[in-house]
Amino acid sequence: MSFLLNRARRARRATVPTLRATLLATGLALCASVSLSVSAWAADTSPAAQQARFSAEAKAPADAERGRVFFTSRQGGEWSCASCHGNPPTAQGKHANTGKLIKPLAPAFNPMAFTDSARVDKWFRRNCNDVLKRECSPGEKADVLAWLNSLKP
Ligand code: HEC
Repeated sequence: MSFLLNRARRARRATVPTLRATLLATGLALCASVSLSVSAWAADTSPAAQQARFSAEAKAPADAERGRVFFTSRQGGEWSCASCHGNPPTAQGKHANTGKLIKPLAPAFNPMAFTDSARVDKWFRRNCNDVLKRECSPGEKADVLAWLNSLKP
C-alpha cells in the first residue's frame, strides 16, 4: 500500500514541474508573438522624414533625377533596383529571383512605404548589397527617396 502511495507521490512531483514548464513556454510564446506583431510595423516615420534624414547624413540636397538613374541602372551586377521593384516602381513589383510580389515602392502608391525606419534600414542594407555588393551611401538613398517621393498618380 505504501509502495503505491509513494509511486503516486513521485508521479505528482514529476508532473508539477512539467506543467509549470509548459505554462512558462506557452506564456513566452504568447509574449513573443505579441511583441512580434507590435514590432512588425513601427509606423514611426514618413517618406519625407526619411528623405530629410538621408540628405542630412549626406550633407547635400537630394536629386530626384540622379535617383531615377541610380534606381533604374545596373551597377555592375545582375540586377538594378528596378529588376524587382519595376520601372517606375508605382505598381506591384515582383522579386527577380523568387517571384514574390512586392508592394509598390513609391509612397503615393503604397501608404505603408517608408513609414517604419527599421524596415527602411533593413531593406536598403539587403537590397543595396544585392545590387551593388555594398551599402548604398546616404546620398544615394536620399536621391532614390527624392525620386520615389516625386512619383504621383
Ligand atoms: C532581388 C529583389 C530586389 C532588388 C534587386 C531590390 N529590392 Fe528593394 N525590396 C525587395 C523586397 C522583397 C522588399 C520587401 C517588400 C515587402 O516586404 O513588402 C524590398 C523593400 C525595399 C525597401 C523598403 C521600403 C519600405 O519602407 O517598405 C526599400 C527602401 C528598398 N527595397 C530599396 C531598394 C533599392 C534602393 C534597391 C536597389 C539598390 C532595391 N530595393 C533593389 C526586393 C528587392
